[in-house]
Amino acid sequence: MSVQTPRGTDSLWLATAQPSAYRALEGDHEVDVAIIGGGIAGVTAALALKRDGARVAVLERGVIAGGASGFTTAKVSALQETKYSDIRKLHGDDAAATYADASLAAVARIDALVLEEQIDCAWERLTAYTYAADDRQVDAVEQELTAAMAAGLAVQTSSDTPLPFDVPLAVCLHDQGQFHPVSYVRGLATAVEGDGSHVFESTAVAGVDEGSPCRVQTLDGVCLRAADVVVATNYPLLDRGLFFARMEAARSYVIAARIRGDAPGAILITAGAPTRSLRSYHDGENTWLLVGGEGHLTGSDEAQPERFEALERFAREHFDVLDIPFRWSTQDGMPTDKLPYIGPYTPNSSHLFVASGFQKWGMTGATIAATVLADRLAGRENPHAALFDPNRLSVRSAPQVARAQLWVARHFVGDRLTPAQAETAEIPTGEARVVRSGLGKIGVYRDEGGATHGVSLRCTHLGCLVHFNEAERTWDCPCHGSRFDIDGEVLAGPAVDPLERRDTPDQEPTMRAAPEQQAHVGPIGRVTNELDSTGGRVAWFAGLGAMAALEVIDWPVAVLLGATHLVARQVRARAGRRFASEPEDAA
Ligand SMILES: Cc1cc2nc3c(=O)[nH]c(=O)nc-3n(C[C@H](O)[C@H](O)[C@H](O)COP(=O)(O)OP(=O)(O)OC[C@H]3O[C@@H](n4cnc5c(N)ncnc54)[C@H](O)[C@@H]3O)c2cc1C
Ligand code: FES
Repeated sequence: MSVQTPRGTDSLWLATAQPSAYRALEGDHEVDVAIIGGGIAGVTAALALKRDGARVAVLERGVIAGGASGFTTAKVSALQETKYSDIRKLHGDDAAATYADASLAAVARIDALVLEEQIDCAWERLTAYTYAADDRQVDAVEQELTAAMAAGLAVQTSSDTPLPFDVPLAVCLHDQGQFHPVSYVRGLATAVEGDGSHVFESTAVAGVDEGSPCRVQTLDGVCLRAADVVVATNYPLLDRGLFFARMEAARSYVIAARIRGDAPGAILITAGAPTRSLRSYHDGENTWLLVGGEGHLTGSDEAQPERFEALERFAREHFDVLDIPFRWSTQDGMPTDKLPYIGPYTPNSSHLFVASGFQKWGMTGATIAATVLADRLAGRENPHAALFDPNRLSVRSAPQVARAQLWVARHFVGDRLTPAQAETAEIPTGEARVVRSGLGKIGVYRDEGGATHGVSLRCTHLGCLVHFNEAERTWDCPCHGSRFDIDGEVLAGPAVDPLERRDTPDQEPTMRAAPEQQAHVGPIGRVTNELDSTGGRVAWFAGLGAMAALEVIDWPVAVLLGATHLVARQVRARAGRRFASEPEDAA
């Protein structure tokens, strides 16, 4: 069974938890509720539903807590960076108060679950801080204090934090918590399994037909029937509900350092960039300091090893670091209007639900989701449900939606028009380049043994081109955050199918992709790959002109698409950095 562990990085949590070993789903089954995704959202929801009397089945592609929940920092807090300032601005004071109430209830719920299920997960209550790293962040802390107080949280300000350095100001909230996330989620999973309910690992879902009953189809061709289905796959798996237009995927980095002396007995995060998120962990022998931060959108060319180095410098500057055996990165869904999506998948869905968009605060977010969904399926009123309705309209977040769409458009179009970067022979060991292949271009990685691994750059989700992530040696999609290993296997969705394997120019045709993999490309994929060549670029502009002339698209749209590409090229050329899809800088 594989977990989402990219090469060269590893999670302290996955390395120190009891292993998980559930069987894969085989043969057709029927349950009351199928839950797709075995992270904290899926497993917490499964247990809540089972406790309500439902027969549930969790379907997990890898292992339980092998996704974002195995790579998180697992601070459990209702005070969340500058969340209340954001919610207040976009949704008003009442919404912020509902969010605060739901988050406090989630902290209490986790406390109760640890006790009731006797989960050995290093759960402890401590104070949460949002601190100003310098004078420029003081305003943000003051605003957060005002917004959090208005939301009903018992926050206070202080400049006296448990950090080993002075800070100008901090806002804090007592009695929050932290735990070992993998032990917690796997402890919940133990309580789910049995009495007609199941946990299945190594079971990737390919699609869902909503009906009576719903039919959940796995990649292996097995069908699970269920009255209701919850999609808890981090980024929503199914291409409906328009989540792709309303949610970005963003990565952050974490290091776990063994330190001499005490770590801060609190959970802390800065009030602005560069984010520094801190917590401790004691394993009986070692004191660990976790430092997180350096976030960026998935698929962005900021995914460089320097992200880890910046966190390491911070740790060594302020703490007595013995060594840093673990470092990792993961991602979460970032809704444009800053609130999670919990509830019916589409406005017309009555049996298909989603829990997603936790914006890097999924310990409480997933716990809220479990309660909201369990209440919904049991027909109980839930005071928080309306706030998280996935089908809400949020006019004030329109600029964020437009920005997200521009980013996608820039990559969908612009990345196709940039030429290849290098010849295969020029690719250094441990690195990847975009190389010319026939009329198009492919991604090629050269491993430590010198062998090359070629993949189609076309993401199997909706066809954007993947970028190489140098920090983790993966192919990441800038459009909705799908990630693939160097051989194209899926590490994170929404993509379900692997990248097509491609012969590299130095390989024999015998290494050509298997027929079933080639079948995923389809005519549109072939056309878009052709567009990656210089000739294709000319064809693209001619095509835009033809479409506009035939009134398939408006002239202003054609001009905008062309201009977006040209501007994007200029900006990148000036950035002067070597990007996977930016060959001008590759030398
Ligand atoms: C660096 C970082 C630090 C963070 N720190 C904190 C923190 O301190 N506190 C906090 O509250 N939150 C934090 N978060 C956020 C938190 O980690 C996430 O919100 C949370 O883990 C998301 O849980 P999930 O269950 O939605 O997703 P996941 O844990 O990713 O679970 C989804 C599961 O679905 C599975 N899946 C996907 N596709 C399929 C498919 N087709 N078929 C079957 N299974 C599938 C995946 O394998 C995965 O196991 C952090 C996030 C990041 C990025
Ligand atoms: S993740 Fe949507 S196109 Fe790649």
